[in-house]
Amino acid sequence: MGERELDALLARLFLTDFRKGYVRVGPNRVVLPAYYPDFRDAIEALPVRASDSWVVSHPKTGTTWTQEMVWCIQNDLDFEKAKIPLPERFPFLEHSPLFDYRDILPRIPDLKLPLYVTNSVKYIDEMPSPRFIKTHIPWELLPRQIQDGSVMPKVIYVARNAKDTCVSYYHHCKLLEGYKGSFDDFCKLFLGNSVCFSPFWSHILSFWDRRNEPNILFLKYEDMKKDLPSVIRKTAKFLGKELNDSQIDILTNHLSFQNMKNNPSVNYEAVVEINRTYNLIAADGEFMRSGTVGEWKAKMSPELIDKFDKWEEENLKDTGLTL
Ligand code: A3P
Repeated sequence: MGERELDALLARLFLTDFRKGYVRVGPNRVVLPAYYPDFRDAIEALPVRASDSWVVSHPKTGTTWTQEMVWCIQNDLDFEKAKIPLPERFPFLEHSPLFDYRDILPRIPDLKLPLYVTNSVKYIDEMPSPRFIKTHIPWELLPRQIQDGSVMPKVIYVARNAKDTCVSYYHHCKLLEGYKGSFDDFCKLFLGNSVCFSPFWSHILSFWDRRNEPNILFLKYEDMKKDLPSVIRKTAKFLGKELNDSQIDILTNHLSFQNMKNNPSVNYEAVVEINRTYNLIAADGEFMRSGTVGEWKAKMSPELIDKFDKWEEENLKDTGLTL
């Protein structure tokens, strides 16, 4: 499928009041919401602070999990303060271009949205230090000061294998982004570098290639599943924090799938509820969905698995990265 056909599929299958289509941006032709160009300059010019902690990822790779881990480590396991909703204490840089409420708000006057939704870039610019910032924007579109190395915040990147990311993204897009198509069509879009924040591999590799820079930590979802305490230890060391064994146990427990699923400050149930209440998206499901590795085995046909494996092989050969 060529880019024009994929663009047409993308436009046809994602139908919501808060997304007016997509654009392709920059040399990698990154797929972003049509409202993104209104924020592009402000994002690139955003003053970065050395004291910032950034969690960067492709969607559905364990971003929320990593955010909660980083925030708790940096805030000395202050679980009382961690009751503040994650999007408020750890805002999403491109929240506003992704969820464009300009046409919706006049229709629903009692829907009151905070600044981190209506203008996420301004909210972040005005946040007191130390700031915590989430973004799915790939390396080449990040604020210039990160790219040119003139300011070096802590950047934690998290990656996940392509097949589980795709399965997770499909459910996410139905629940939160108005996707109306089949799983097969979603996979076509994913493999065709045509879902929001695609292309997948250049997103990951641009951070993998920088993994040895002193301010960049590269994590994998699968490692967090296999041995979370080790990942916590490694992340704490990277952040310059000391955690004793008992604190690591406590944090591991706080970050378990079950606890995060039941934690309203991180499980996005309020967003799902707003979408239902105001009839913006009526899909069923939960953000904290399955939290497993290898779910693709039950969801993908052998032919599809083969396509994904070849795609991965082509893109990862000679990189040293395995997922
Ligand atoms: P699934 O849809 O496969 O369940 P992101 O935060 O980048 O959107 O990623 C969401 C994915 O991470 C979802 O995957 C979600 O269930 C999973 N996740 C979130 N918290 C988790 C945790 N504590 N343990 C394991 N997986 C978690």
